[in-house]
Amino acid sequence: MNHKRLITAALPYANGPVHIGHLAGVYIPADVYARFERRMGKEVAFICGSDEHGIPITIRAKKEGVTPQDIVDQYHTIIKKSFSDLGISFDEYSRTTSKKHKQVSQDFFTTLYNKDKFTEEVSEQYFDEEANEFLADRYIVGTCPNCGNENAYGDQCEKCGTTLSPSELINPRSMLSGNKPVLKETKNWYLPLNDYEEFLNKWIIEGHKDDWKTNVYGQVKSWLNDGLKPRAMTRDLNWGVPVPLPNAEGKVLYVWFDAPIGYISFTQEWAEKTGKNWKDYWQSDDSELVHFIGKDNIVFHCIIFPAMMKAHGDYKMPTNVPAFEFLNLENDKISTSRNWAVWAHEYVEEFPGQQDVLRYALLSSAPETKDNNFTWKDFQTKNNSELVGIFGNFINRVAVLINKFYEGIIPAGNENAIELNEISKAATEVDQFLTKFEFRNALSAMMNLARFGNQYLQIEEPWKTIKVDEEKAANSLFVAIQIAAGLAQICEPFLPFSSEKLLKMFNSEKLTWQEVESHNVLLKTGHKINEASLLFSKIEDETIEFQIQKLENTKQSNKKTNLKANPMKDEIQYDDFTKIDLRTATILTAEKVEKADKLLKFSVDTGVDVRTVVSGVAESFTPEECVGKQVMILLNLAPRKIRGIESQGMLLLTTKDNGKLAFVKPEVKVENGIEIS
Ligand code: MF3
Ligand code: ZN
Repeated sequence: MNHKRLITAALPYANGPVHIGHLAGVYIPADVYARFERRMGKEVAFICGSDEHGIPITIRAKKEGVTPQDIVDQYHTIIKKSFSDLGISFDEYSRTTSKKHKQVSQDFFTTLYNKDKFTEEVSEQYFDEEANEFLADRYIVGTCPNCGNENAYGDQCEKCGTTLSPSELINPRSMLSGNKPVLKETKNWYLPLNDYEEFLNKWIIEGHKDDWKTNVYGQVKSWLNDGLKPRAMTRDLNWGVPVPLPNAEGKVLYVWFDAPIGYISFTQEWAEKTGKNWKDYWQSDDSELVHFIGKDNIVFHCIIFPAMMKAHGDYKMPTNVPAFEFLNLENDKISTSRNWAVWAHEYVEEFPGQQDVLRYALLSSAPETKDNNFTWKDFQTKNNSELVGIFGNFINRVAVLINKFYEGIIPAGNENAIELNEISKAATEVDQFLTKFEFRNALSAMMNLARFGNQYLQIEEPWKTIKVDEEKAANSLFVAIQIAAGLAQICEPFLPFSSEKLLKMFNSEKLTWQEVESHNVLLKTGHKINEASLLFSKIEDETIEFQIQKLENTKQSNKKTNLKANPMKDEIQYDDFTKIDLRTATILTAEKVEKADKLLKFSVDTGVDVRTVVSGVAESFTPEECVGKQVMILLNLAPRKIRGIESQGMLLLTTKDNGKLAFVKPEVKVENGIEIS
């Protein structure tokens, strides 16, 4: 049996605070697991830190007119504090801008370089001549070839959802200067992932069919089926870890190359502080490595990083990579940019002392096998009926009664009462579920013990029997306090703050999990407990209404920003206008374009001719609704192919309040082919 556990949680980007989606899908489950493994007697290194490189950070900095360093300093501090406030028990929480990380990631690169593991490839990339910078995909905007959105990004059009590459954009412009970028050759270093296909197939597809989660296994399998390609491990950017080679100015390590190495460099930072040997965790058979991640990180942790470690040669592969699905908020996708989130740091401020409530609510709706949903009403119910109504109620009754009848001294009772088996049973169940990464089931197993205790008291009614059968009352409370003491132990991975309060209340100490699994009596007759103290309190409707209103306000203000008119474009002359041939026209036929959800194909009578036009309106109209409509057409727009169909002209559209499109048309029906003047 190996004794060490290296547990990592995906490094959060330091371009915003963390929200409940991050917490439910990575950090709280990872923390439960780390706490549990510690209690199992493993030597745990629970490692995380801020991911401070990458494009989202430079974009945010540009938007706010500050440096990337300013951005990461600000969010690193906020993120680190909210993790600690919520009891996420990292052994190390560092950052990828640390000195150590720079050195470790550069050394890693150099090792691969010296072992000849990279290929060098020259490619053409867009370059902004004024800013003197190569442009990452997100830094190029232009017209979407699919729907005509003028502000599509180099990697995706956010209007129609199409995935793009920068070269597909019509009229590309640089976000840095607004100028048209030029194509320029550049050399980068690639990791030929295809060389690792066999290894990955053996290790994951053959080796982990039964013990890895199906979502993870399935994704890896489909990537491998499609075949892997070389992937650039360096980028032309000026924010990141510099490529440690001569003649590599202006080049940095790809953020997905340096970030996972963060797990290694942070382990080294921790080891230096604590006198441990980091290699015992990364390179020894006495250790197991487990990565907690969200589903969008699967390819990086199951293909790219393992390929990097394999290429390096000294590293062990992870034992498991439990990946979570996504959490929605009030049935809508959580979004940092739309501020649709419950932010960890705001929760901590608005619900002081109620960290465990959030931990409980998020664990019980952890998106383990499919996306899940968080609602404030649910949160309230979970607190009021489960934590207050069952858990807190049980503990409180036991502690109050023992104090009242026995001055806090545990009375004598039957040490072999069958009810006591429930404690070890719950501990074993939690153990079995957590080993399989089934957090929701583990949480229920813990809660069922509280439920059992509550029912037991309800049946025994020691507050009544004490008047007629003192021995029976004493026995009931002896059994009940054992269950309560068991809960104090078993709830610790899930509800660490409450566990600490309970241990204080019962004058007891944290036991190992094995001790809880093998003992029925945790507090001896004669042991003195303290006064009952409040564990959970009811959350009132007003509190919940306030949170719901806050989200409603976000919704309203998002609507307003969306409606805010764009600033005027550059002035033009009358002559420019007369170049535009706008005509009235009528839609004769309309049909869907196969395999393109957004597109309709029209034949249009323009008065001049009948022609084909393809337009991205399928989400706003059915084909039937369009037939017979009078519209305005831009007649002399150069034809272009959309999904293999030549579109001859463009129909004028505007957007309604509800986000749907509407055709622009003359006030009254007129002949086709009439010009605009
Ligand atoms: N910052 C990435 C994200 O939020 C996760 C990085 S995980 C690491 O998706 F392995 F690269 F560190
Ligand atoms: Zn588009």
